[in-house]
Amino acid sequence: MNAIIRSVGAYVPKKRMSNDDVAKMVDTSDEWILSHTGIKNRHIAAEDEATSDLAYKAADVALKRADLTSADIDLILVATCTPDYVGFPSTACIVQDKLKAHHAGCLDISAACTGFIYGLEIAKNFVLTGAGKNILVIGAELLSRTVDWSDRNTCVLFGDGAGAAVITTGNAKSNGIINSVLQAEGQGADLLKRPVGGTRTPFIEGKHKESDLMTKMAGQEVYHFAIRVIIATIKKLLNVNGLTMDDLAYIIPHQANIRIIQAACKRAKLPLDKFYLNIDEYANTSAASIPIALNEMHEKKMLKTGDLVLTVGFGGGLTYGGNLIQWA
Ligand code: ACO
Repeated sequence: MNAIIRSVGAYVPKKRMSNDDVAKMVDTSDEWILSHTGIKNRHIAAEDEATSDLAYKAADVALKRADLTSADIDLILVATCTPDYVGFPSTACIVQDKLKAHHAGCLDISAACTGFIYGLEIAKNFVLTGAGKNILVIGAELLSRTVDWSDRNTCVLFGDGAGAAVITTGNAKSNGIINSVLQAEGQGADLLKRPVGGTRTPFIEGKHKESDLMTKMAGQEVYHFAIRVIIATIKKLLNVNGLTMDDLAYIIPHQANIRIIQAACKRAKLPLDKFYLNIDEYANTSAASIPIALNEMHEKKMLKTGDLVLTVGFGGGLTYGGNLIQWA
């Protein structure tokens, strides 16, 4: 038996914010953002939208394409670092109620930008052990509400959106989710975090500022970490499976910064044209970036049964990893 991606779906908020729009808020420019990151636009959720709303809409598309109803879902995994609520209830529980998938177990995955990659491997094993048949894996983020819009070092980088996949028992035509690399370097936890608001440093009125609740990042350090682990993950997945780059149809990287991908390609002599990139339109949507990309590729009819594709991601934690998938 194998576990396949049976369908994908995505939702991004309608409101589109260009680099010029961002430049009205902080001291930056379209030229700086584009040349340093590859980003031109990002999508921003409406005031009345929360992460679960984006997740629900992406999941609804994926479910319809899978020709399943919400009653068929055994488990809902929501990979997010921007949940509806701090700690609990999980965003997955809110999505379950919106979908009326009341038979499904629910949990959030906290692995930042690598969350969807972790989710696919968890779902695969859930299916392979027979614990369930149909798993919804969602990557959903509302990062625009967790950045300090006066900090040009971070606010230019992020956007909102969600992507989803239905994982089910497979067929003979495809090996589905073949295997994965799931890794973390917890010693780098301080490099990317929201320092205040958790149990380590609760928010204290008068002592902390609202901006202390927002995302802080040591950009250069994360940049170098990302290049290193992208190369290591791709090499490991190819070696473990006895494959070469020529065997892959596409690499779908986490979309954080085009310069990270370019630098990894240059350093390890990887073919840039195998990488699917859409960061120009959505910016960094953390756990949502890979499923949004998969959905776009599906809609462009780029993915054919039997194609080998490799995902690779990295983010807060510091987490990193990838999946080798044969498209079903
Ligand atoms: N506009 C204009 N100038 C800027 C901006 C901006 N938006 N941001 C920074 N600068 C300035 C800096 O102040 C600095 O000026 P100085 O030289 O006078 O001090 C100069 O530009 C260079 O700054 P650097 O930080 O060295 O810029 P760099 O080229 O490294 O790019 C960036 C910064 C884009 C953040 C890069 O380091 C990066 O991409 N890091 C990785 C980010 C990432 O991948 N995060 C993923 C994880 S996200 C998650 O997990 C939720």
